[in-house]
Amino acid sequence: MATRSPWPRPLSLPCCCLLLLALGGPGFFQSHAVEVDVKDLSNNTCIYAKWMMSFLIKYETNSSEYKNVTLKPSTNVTHDGSTCGNNTHAPLLAIQFGAGHSWSINFTKTNETYQGNIISFTYNTNDAVFKDAKTKGPITIVVNDSMHPVQLNTVYKCHHLDSIEVANVSLFFWDVILQAFVQNGTVSKHDSTCEADKSTVAPTTVANLTTAPITTASSPLPTTTSKPVEKPLIGNYSLKDGNKTCLLATMGLQLNVSQEKPVLININPKTTNVTGSCGNTSATLRLSDSNRMFIDFTFAVKNTSANTQRFYLKEVNITLISSINGSEPLNAGNNNLSIWDTFLGSSYMCQKEQTVLVTEDLQIHTFDLRIQPFKVQDNKYSKAEDCSPDVDNFIVPITVGAALGGLVALVLVAYFVSHKKHSNAGYQQF
Ligand SMILES: *[C@@H]1O[C@H](CO)[C@@H](O)[C@H](O)[C@H]1NC(C)=O
Ligand SMILES: *[C@@H]1O[C@H](CO)[C@@H](O)[C@H](O)[C@H]1NC(C)=O
Ligand SMILES: *[C@@H]1O[C@H](CO)[C@@H](O)[C@H](O)[C@H]1NC(C)=O
Ligand SMILES: *[C@@H]1O[C@H](CO)[C@@H](O)[C@H](O)[C@H]1NC(C)=O
Ligand SMILES: *[C@@H]1O[C@H](CO)[C@@H](O)[C@H](O)[C@H]1NC(C)=O
Ligand SMILES: *[C@@H]1O[C@H](CO)[C@@H](O)[C@H](O)[C@H]1NC(C)=O
Ligand SMILES: *[C@@H]1O[C@H](CO)[C@@H](O)[C@H](O)[C@H]1NC(C)=O
Ligand SMILES: *[C@@H]1O[C@H](CO)[C@@H](O)[C@H](O)[C@H]1NC(C)=O
Ligand SMILES: *[C@@H]1O[C@H](CO)[C@@H](O)[C@H](O)[C@H]1NC(C)=O
Ligand SMILES: *[C@@H]1O[C@H](CO)[C@@H](O)[C@H](O)[C@H]1NC(C)=O
Repeated sequence: MATRSPWPRPLSLPCCCLLLLALGGPGFFQSHAVEVDVKDLSNNTCIYAKWMMSFLIKYETNSSEYKNVTLKPSTNVTHDGSTCGNNTHAPLLAIQFGAGHSWSINFTKTNETYQGNIISFTYNTNDAVFKDAKTKGPITIVVNDSMHPVQLNTVYKCHHLDSIEVANVSLFFWDVILQAFVQNGTVSKHDSTCEADKSTVAPTTVANLTTAPITTASSPLPTTTSKPVEKPLIGNYSLKDGNKTCLLATMGLQLNVSQEKPVLININPKTTNVTGSCGNTSATLRLSDSNRMFIDFTFAVKNTSANTQRFYLKEVNITLISSINGSEPLNAGNNNLSIWDTFLGSSYMCQKEQTVLVTEDLQIHTFDLRIQPFKVQDNKYSKAEDCSPDVDNFIVPITVGAALGGLVALVLVAYFVSHKKHSNAGYQQF
């Protein structure tokens, strides 16, 4: 076998291929599901893939502004250049779509696994969607990342929305079914499910995700505003580290997205996937709705001058792919937050509606919030620190001030009384 191959394993399949491409099954996937069946000369499948993808591209306009456009492989999809590979070339899955755009990924394998490696994406700003682009022509980006290795002879399946960000492009993909190095031309009956989907079906996430309309919540919200829009459903979300719950969150979420006009979007816990990561000083909760959005909440721990540790919400990132009719996709974040600030070891609770300002154009309203991103014991929330309602922010200092004033007066009185007594006692002693 050739050892000079740039790829970990020389590829055993014969050279160039015959290809077959079919677009997404009727009505099952949305129109931009792409299905590619790459075949070798003897018509044996070597790569099979069916997936959804979209690209969010930022470009500079002729008036020196930046605009976002979304591209989806929905029209004129071809598969030229896809190949099963040979001793010197890795198998390649390549598609072309729309007005001169293309995307490809190549695959390598080891004894046990295969993985996607180099992703290349070319978008052509001659496409009418970029009509006011400053520079015209194809722009290619290459991502050198490796996909997570997949066991050979298994089909990689991932429903979860994932993204890659490079230069001015975010690539989103979801509902992925993929097998490279297909053996004997038959797509395997065995699946390899991605980690993200596994945590989605973890008992404490989806199974616990019973939802109740907020109107039936045991303690009704002290409504500050009565909105014509329905309140979002409350979701129970959790993350596990091994079989131990490490993060708990309960909340109803509503996005207020102002593009042309403000639009309120309720997050439905029933269709929301939970993933993320736990840690001692940082934790991230990612909520995603299979193909429309994801929200990342990142929590951090800080030390206070009083030598105690507290956690707080530090960062929120939101990506909306196509949640609002025809409007631009949106990718926004704020990494400079310092809210939901609570003693480490406690949970933070706020029943009333709260607003997290992500950007000028994007706010998150939370309802019936309770969160504990660190130090979860026995799969249960620890004692809660309750947020004070806004009005209390004014009352609290006053009452505390008044209380302190009273206390000072009492202490003074006590001091004088005791001092007097003490003095008297002293005098009596002598
Ligand atoms: C492979 O399939 C195509 C179309 O189904 C057919 O035209 C071609 O002759 C086949 N080639 C071989 C080697 O069987
Ligand atoms: C990408 O965006 C940056 C600004 O964020 C800009 O300077 C650059 O020209 C953009 N690149 C392309 C190819 O549009
Ligand atoms: C291997 O495949 C590449 C790309 O498909 C092709 O250009 C090359 O000629 C092939 N090499 C051999 C030895 O078949
Ligand atoms: C920018 O491009 C658009 C579309 O081609 C054109 O209508 C517009 O006049 C251009 N603006 C400037 C400032 O060149
Ligand atoms: C492929 O065919 C060979 C020979 O018939 C067989 O030994 C092997 O197990 C098959 N592989 C799979 C994955 O079916
Ligand atoms: C969330 O979990 C808590 C504690 O297990 C439970 O009391 C509550 O009813 C759940 N809420 C929803 C909406 O499922
Ligand atoms: C939504 O955001 C816009 C713009 O920031 C604001 O004017 C509007 O009051 C918000 N709506 C709600 C219901 O919070
Ligand atoms: C907080 O204090 C702990 C122990 O006192 C220390 O290990 C940790 O590095 C400190 N963290 C920060 C962010 O300062
Ligand atoms: C949020 O987005 C910023 C920039 O878009 C990125 O640098 C950061 O890593 C993201 N954070 C998370 C938790 O995804
Ligand atoms: C989307 O469009 C439909 C039909 O045009 C409309 O009924 C719906 O309110 C729109 N949704 C949003 C969020 O604008």
